[in-house]
Amino acid sequence: MNIFKQIYCRTFQTCFKIALPILPYREPDILDDVEKIADILTKNNVNTVLMVIDKNIRRLELSKRLEDSLKDNQIQFHIYEDTVQNPTITNVLEAKKIYLDNHCSAIIGFGGGSAMDCAKCVGASIARPNLSIPKMNGILKIMKKTPLFFAVPTTAGTGSEVTITSVITDEVTKQKYTINDFPLIPDYAVLDYTLTFDLPDFITSTTGMDVLTHAVESYIGNTTTKHTREMAEDAVVLVKNHLLTAYLEPHNIEARKSMQIAAYKAGVAFSRSYVGYVHAISHALSGRYHTLHGLANACILPYFLDEYGAVIDEKLAKLADVISLCDTSLDIHTKANAFRSWVWDMNKQLHIPDTLEEIQVEDIPKLVYYADKEANPLYPVPVLMDKDKLATMIHKFMK
Ligand SMILES: [Fe+2]
Repeated sequence: MNIFKQIYCRTFQTCFKIALPILPYREPDILDDVEKIADILTKNNVNTVLMVIDKNIRRLELSKRLEDSLKDNQIQFHIYEDTVQNPTITNVLEAKKIYLDNHCSAIIGFGGGSAMDCAKCVGASIARPNLSIPKMNGILKIMKKTPLFFAVPTTAGTGSEVTITSVITDEVTKQKYTINDFPLIPDYAVLDYTLTFDLPDFITSTTGMDVLTHAVESYIGNTTTKHTREMAEDAVVLVKNHLLTAYLEPHNIEARKSMQIAAYKAGVAFSRSYVGYVHAISHALSGRYHTLHGLANACILPYFLDEYGAVIDEKLAKLADVISLCDTSLDIHTKANAFRSWVWDMNKQLHIPDTLEEIQVEDIPKLVYYADKEANPLYPVPVLMDKDKLATMIHKFMK
């Protein structure tokens, strides 16, 4: 990256770092059971609510307990279930129409990141009716109170239940819009681990590695605080202790519960300290090929940990200590490399591939255009990379 762009990126990130303590971050209230949503709605005099979900989750009847409890409490609910993986502008507009047509006054996002992101964007669009979704792209474009919002994650990964972010895809241009603003932080995060018991193996593994990516990318960036470092370290410990168990023993209560907490903590860390190039490229890949977000992150993360090199050794060594990977008396470089090897090994044990076969060489210029646009100057990455360097990185993990 040329020196002028480097100065611009680092100056931009420093401004955010200085502003971090005064920005209006908040954490959602946590509910541990979906049936508690009805009580909160009743207390807030809400009698009509929009639920944004996807067909698969609905077919698996994961929302049945919630739907029954809403009925029992005479709360009307209207369901939008056409949310697709990597939700689109059309999804948001269709769900918004249901909200307005039925005079809803609260929103429940129920599912993985896609349903929650779609629901969050519906809230943003209700708050800002005259702002098109492409115009929401970036930071602080909403700045108005959104409707009462419940995020109910059915995976343990995305962290969307705690973040300021909603990622929406433009189905025409394939561009992903990353909308970041404080009103998008859910009012309630419902961490009901029973919803994650029957996740398919590859969703448990890839969303779990997404948690790790959130924790590690936020931790090695330049905009951390004591709080975000602690949250990220806690998340890495929980992933180390519970992800493989959740993968191998899907009904293990402690593992499922712990992974939901890990997802939440990593979400707190990255919503304040940001992610990095792994996520920027992952978003570009899902926009172009619908690659699973967690899969792309899991595959890409170790390549970047290797590439960043000695600059992040001290931080990776700390993480290695935190999860007791090796003798704490070893030198920093050795401990950092032990952490890098552990990430490669986790992918192997979770049967996550080390290349992504969908990437086509002719698409690389477009992929790096979007990744560069998303990451530079916003993400406080440990080493700045321009489009050429990002293209070199993509070549490493394409088949
Ligand atoms: Fe992620």
